[in-house]
Amino acid sequence: MDAGPANIGRLPRKERSELMSEEQPTAPAMPRIGDPAPAFTAITTQGEINFPADYKGKWVILFSHPADFTPVCTSEFMTFAMMEEELRAYNTELVGLSIDGLYSHIAWLRTIKEKMTFRGWSNVEVNFPLIEDITMHVATLYGMIMPGESSTKAARAVFFIDPKGIVRTILYYPQSMGRNFDEILRIIKALQTADAFGVATPADWQPGERVIVPTAGSCGVAKDRMEGAEEGVECVDWFFCTRPISLEEVEAAIRKA
Ligand code: BEZ
Repeated sequence: MDAGPANIGRLPRKERSELMSEEQPTAPAMPRIGDPAPAFTAITTQGEINFPADYKGKWVILFSHPADFTPVCTSEFMTFAMMEEELRAYNTELVGLSIDGLYSHIAWLRTIKEKMTFRGWSNVEVNFPLIEDITMHVATLYGMIMPGESSTKAARAVFFIDPKGIVRTILYYPQSMGRNFDEILRIIKALQTADAFGVATPADWQPGERVIVPTAGSCGVAKDRMEGAEEGVECVDWFFCTRPISLEEVEAAIRKA
């Protein structure tokens, strides 16, 4: 029988699985949401780091960029540096990475401070660690390389890792597009709010807006909710109920400084 794509389903199971495993090589492993962040040690512009152990008890944004001395990356680094203090207020640290060497990193960060202006910012000092990853060890471990785009430059990946070292959110942008930093901050606040209050956040949620309460797990709870028995809880239908959490309550729960 012709083993073309239309006939694969009619082959005996053994032949079919052999053919499919030949045709569909397994994707390289990468951490997914809910996985422990893979551990590594690395040289950075702030000295050696032991990841994620050095960040136990803190949230970390581990991000990659394609290359030093490139314009989009420069605009992103200046933006991250300007956000560092605000992120620290939410117990969040930044760690950057590109497939470049340490001296390139140092020279680029010096250039940013001495020469670059962006959105009216100048004299911007990047104080968070930037990993040298010339061997691509960390970029490969985290699936930061998109071979269809480039096999030598990392994509713009962003891993949000919680204080227990678990990956909680992953974003990917292509090389041509600078990241949305409002969204990066919103993700940190939404994850921390979800943890602090045991709730979920609806589309485009911003701190201070109503949040989603966990779906009723029994007919009794569903009925009570629909009858307004839970104070503040409003239901559009039994499975879609919200409650208010004020901006002040959110900030009191998640802001650490
Ligand atoms: C940049 O950061 O400007 C950039 C990097 C790689 C490809 C295209 C742009």
